[in-house]
Amino acid sequence: MRNPILVTGGAGFIGSHLVERLLADGESVVVLDDFSTGDRANLRAVEGQRRLRILPGRVSDHSDLAALVAECGFVYHLAAAVGVELVVNSPIRTIETNLDETTVVLRAAAAGGVPVLITSSSEVYGKSPRSEFTETDDLLIGPPHLGRWGYACSKLMDEFLALAYMRERGVPVTVVRLFNTVGPRQTGRYGMVLPRFVQAALLNQPIRVHGDGGQSRCFCHVQDVLEALRGLEQRPTTRGEVVNVGNNQPITILDLAERVRSLLGSSSPIEFVPYEQAYAPGFEDMRHRRPSLAKLERLTGYRPARDLDTIIRDVAAHLGAAG
Ligand SMILES: NC(=O)c1ccc[n+]([C@@H]2O[C@H](COP(=O)([O-])OP(=O)(O)OC[C@H]3O[C@@H](n4cnc5c(N)ncnc54)[C@H](O)[C@@H]3O)[C@@H](O)[C@H]2O)c1
Repeated sequence: MRNPILVTGGAGFIGSHLVERLLADGESVVVLDDFSTGDRANLRAVEGQRRLRILPGRVSDHSDLAALVAECGFVYHLAAAVGVELVVNSPIRTIETNLDETTVVLRAAAAGGVPVLITSSSEVYGKSPRSEFTETDDLLIGPPHLGRWGYACSKLMDEFLALAYMRERGVPVTVVRLFNTVGPRQTGRYGMVLPRFVQAALLNQPIRVHGDGGQSRCFCHVQDVLEALRGLEQRPTTRGEVVNVGNNQPITILDLAERVRSLLGSSSPIEFVPYEQAYAPGFEDMRHRRPSLAKLERLTGYRPARDLDTIIRDVAAHLGAAG
């Protein structure tokens, strides 16, 4: 029998889809999650399966993480403080969680010689004016008095730490920079744009666009992201690599609002909210954020398959069903 796969943050949005996918592929899975932004209900469809073990609690509070990791064949480390709103409102929690939990996971992986995939973020590219972000680009992160950059820096330190553990302690690590990942179960509570827009459209309430709406993003269906993650996990040649994962079709946030509204037949008005009002004075946003997927495609053959309309419909079906 194969060793189980550990998913930290496995009750979260991406984590719960990953857990379902791993179980469907015949793997055994251990979830470690403190349900801070995730929800046990996200695992409802698979809870009770013989090959799934759910361990509630913080990663760093686990009584013997080294032993747990040593019995696993692979670790997906997804547990983190996530979302711009959370980052702006709870900077200590964000920075400490992202640094501390990654540190203990890497230490445990080093003790057991277990491969780890660390989920970093496109946020590390900061406010780079490039039209497309490549993994070897220089990074342009804002100053520390603008709290939102604390998330980018904490994720970037995770990357440095992961690669340092690989070099010094031989831990086989793969670092993934996730770009906007969307789909059912993502919550709008922590500032995620698509579930907020879809929720508002379903209720015919105002869709609130931050700034002038000219900023663009590329949205990737969570099922496409899982293809990429599994592809990276299964290829030992990706160890030591930093890899963008996402979709590379950009859309402005204003166009997104209009697309959501028309696709869902909603009568929601679109309202513009200045960044300072939505977040904090001096808030800085990235104007555009588009990944180069050349490296990912070279390593895994991955190409995103699901388009934006599919994404919007899937999110709406989920939120509609959730009431
Ligand atoms: N969703 C995106 O677009 C996106 C983009 C870039 C990076 N990421 C990264 O992907 C990962 C998953 O993100 P998500 O969107 O699924 O967010 P999420 O908030 O749904 O998932 C994070 C999970 O980690 C859990 N968690 C948080 N701190 C924990 C701790 N100390 N111990 C145990 N569990 C803890 C939460 O309860 C939650 O279930 C995160 O590392 C995030 O930074 C996501």
